Amino acid sequence: MAGESQRTFYLETFGCQMNVHDSEKVIGTLVSEGYRQVSTVEEAGLILYNTCSIRDKAEQKVFHRLADFKRLEAQGKKFGVLGCVAQQEGEKIFDRAPHVSMVCGSASYRNLPEMLIKIETGDRHVTGLDDRETDECFETEFTARTNPHRGYITIIEGCDKFCSYCVVPFTRGKERSRMSDSVLAEAARMAGLGYTEIQLLGQNVNSYKDPAGKRTFAELLVAVGEVPGIKRVRFTTSHPRDFGRDIIEAIDSLPTLCDHVHLPVQSGSTRMLDAMQRLYTREQYLERISWMKAAKREISITTDVIVGFPGETGVDFEQTLSLLDEVEYDGIFGFKYSPRPNTPALSLNDAIPDEEKARRLAVLNEKQREIQVRRNGRHLGREVEVMVEGWNQPRNQWIGRTSQNKVLNFAALEYRRPAVGTYVTAVITRAFPNSFLGEMVI
Ligand code: 5AD
Ligand code: SF4
Repeated sequence: MAGESQRTFYLETFGCQMNVHDSEKVIGTLVSEGYRQVSTVEEAGLILYNTCSIRDKAEQKVFHRLADFKRLEAQGKKFGVLGCVAQQEGEKIFDRAPHVSMVCGSASYRNLPEMLIKIETGDRHVTGLDDRETDECFETEFTARTNPHRGYITIIEGCDKFCSYCVVPFTRGKERSRMSDSVLAEAARMAGLGYTEIQLLGQNVNSYKDPAGKRTFAELLVAVGEVPGIKRVRFTTSHPRDFGRDIIEAIDSLPTLCDHVHLPVQSGSTRMLDAMQRLYTREQYLERISWMKAAKREISITTDVIVGFPGETGVDFEQTLSLLDEVEYDGIFGFKYSPRPNTPALSLNDAIPDEEKARRLAVLNEKQREIQVRRNGRHLGREVEVMVEGWNQPRNQWIGRTSQNKVLNFAALEYRRPAVGTYVTAVITRAFPNSFLGEMVI
């Protein structure tokens, strides 16, 4: 049995918001089992990595980190790999990094207490990899949310879309939604604890299907937005194919639903979208954008783009660039295509050299930077409400976030220091590509 001093853990998280929130569940579970979280590897008895395998680099990083820390094994420290790399590589991780004691995919975290006992009692290699086909939605009893004002709630796990490049359906398993009543109960509980912002999470929130059949996704959005005390509701990620007009109508009907939609497009070429198995055309995507542009409030729109997918020609890439101009996104996340295990695109010839992918990515980002300069410039002089996120001491500036999810740094009123987590109004005095500068008004 491990001594008291060993019951400490260090957890590092890679990847998306789903992973960040999963880590909050892992922390909650470990703490309820009597473990204490520490902030350095040195202090920890158990070192955990919650991993991401969406792109090759994310995965390499984890293996490098594990190799770096092999030397700590001699001090009796134990290692665990959680998340998508764990699910994808499975027991092969033990071959590549024998000092790892635990490999556990995200659908198996509910089994962590038992797995921890096995490790404590000396099992060399413990796995939790078998639960992806579960119909149950993954909920742990304990969640240790790190931010006291803004919190995540998972509404749907997994993904059934099988875009040809994407590993998620293999690592996170099939789609399963959580009961809308249970989501609302958690939102109400969080509001009672002082949370004012809720972010509904899922790989594909638009596929949400209430197992009780009570509410559509748009109705759930409204219901969460009407929970007393909740001032902001966000949701991510949306898939264009399932993105209905009712979502925009919901945003129109309720000011607590934030005026921001993240709608990954991946490519502006219908030919590429077809090869990616995205299930929509450029025109269908643009139709959804036109709904957003017709909304009562200006909706900020962000997206994900993949460059260098197998077979992407210069003409296809030009179409992505022209789509950027047409939509005028508020932000994009651009990625170079990277082949992933198990995915259908793996059988395609990944012939575009890395330098060419890098060149396209640089062109894409430069174009988008110009768009953001233009777009953000239009916000000058506007008054906006921000949630206060922190204070930048050297600059004596407060850091805020708008409902559109943009960062606004601002000078406070002399007689009023705003508290983190509260909402203040500021006027925008300068616009940059990725943020605003402003002054507090009230
Ligand atoms: N290569 C490059 N980018 C990818 N993404 C997902 N899979 C891959 C891949 N194999 C990107 C997509 C997705 C985002 C989360 O990551 O743009 O929307
Ligand atoms: Fe991956 Fe496509 Fe599912 Fe998004 S919708 S998680 S890109 S398979």
